Amino acid sequence: MSESLILSEGLSRAERYQELLPQVKALIADEPDLIANLANIAAVLKEAMGFFWVGFYRMIDGELVLGPFQGPLACTRIALDRGVCGAAATQQKTLVVDDVNAFPGHIACSSASQSEIVVPLIAEGEVKGVLDVDSDQLADFSAVDQKYLEEMMRLVVKRHWGGHG
Ligand code: SME
Repeated sequence: MSESLILSEGLSRAERYQELLPQVKALIADEPDLIANLANIAAVLKEAMGFFWVGFYRMIDGELVLGPFQGPLACTRIALDRGVCGAAATQQKTLVVDDVNAFPGHIACSSASQSEIVVPLIAEGEVKGVLDVDSDQLADFSAVDQKYLEEMMRLVVKRHWGGHG
């Protein structure tokens, strides 16, 4: 696998995702370890998209447990009835929150965080974990982020659980 990322200048956010997707697919194709792949995806998204905080929580014994991430210190465990992450996992769907301060039960790992997108990783009808991305700007995530981050998570699900996301 190539260990450097191709990042063209002056792309729109959608174009940047389009450039990243085949690279992420190639990156994870060669590595069977889930944690190694999640760690690199967090690094790729941080470097390419400049997100404030990006990382994974894995579902372990009915609780979301912090996995590989890039950004400031984060809370380690999230119960399913808490936060945007818990809500996305429970509802088994992506949640885009324009203003986290207005979201009931939002967990403020950092007071700088203003908006958030959480994409669950679903395989075999179960949530295996979530991708959480936080921004320090309000309403920073749109349907474009949802579309491409869901596509990226489908690659991860296919690679590691072989199913259909
Ligand atoms: N804000 C998240 C918790 C995780 S951190 O932001 C990294 C939530 O409400 O689920």
